[in-house]
Amino acid sequence: ALFAPPPRPLRGRRVLITAGPTHEPIDPVRYIANRSSGKQGYAIAAAAARAGAEVALISGPVDLAAPDGVTLTRVESARDMLAAVHSALPADVAIFAAAVADWRVASEGEQKIKKGAGGPPPLQLTENPDILATISKLADGRPPLVIGFAAETENLLDNARAKLARKGCDWIVANDVSPATGVMGGDRNTVHLLMKSGESVEIDSWPVMTKDDVARALVQRIAQATEQAGE
Ligand code: CTP
Ligand code: CA
Repeated sequence: ALFAPPPRPLRGRRVLITAGPTHEPIDPVRYIANRSSGKQGYAIAAAAARAGAEVALISGPVDLAAPDGVTLTRVESARDMLAAVHSALPADVAIFAAAVADWRVASEGEQKIKKGAGGPPPLQLTENPDILATISKLADGRPPLVIGFAAETENLLDNARAKLARKGCDWIVANDVSPATGVMGGDRNTVHLLMKSGESVEIDSWPVMTKDDVARALVQRIAQATEQAGE
């Protein structure tokens, strides 16, 4: 079996992944954004493709190339990301790794805002659509396995449990991003996987590992779960 082909446990499965930040325009030259390298989402897309899945990666602005075998759609804002996600459905598994900006400015300037005697302009913010919650609560065409991320700087597991309940997804990948961990923008992650199981929540805590290994481990769990689900 030295030259056996690699196992492809997600062969024939459609996997949708969001990644990166979103950019919310203030005017034609300025935007509000979240901090996100996109590395974890791209690593998951690459791992899912290696496992044989048909992968749609919907990405905010990042400095990364499309992984092999992945269909990449680039977007800017949260609203564009939601529209692209709807277009990429149906999916067997949807993974929301993007760091979506929670707010955008209520009325985007059509022209560049100039400095003036009036002082700095006040920015009126409005809330963006919650892509994960929207897809989790779809009455029609909800992917059978919906996975969210929770990047937290404190009370990691409590916040992640609350998010799992609030968003209506099946799993949450909880990720400690407090500045002390030094993980922001880096190549490693410490994650806990929270999986809804009936009325309770099962938690898998993984040791600190590279984002590529987190991706591989997550894809392996997905393969197990989709196998158990039949077919
Ligand atoms: N998410 C999303 N759309 C949004 C906000 C968040 O799809 N508008 C998704 C993220 O991709 C992630 C999950 O929801 O999978 C949790 O994001 P997070 O920012 O941690 O949660 P929020 O509900 O926005 O709560 P808060 O930022 O206040 O912690
Ligand atoms: Ca948020």
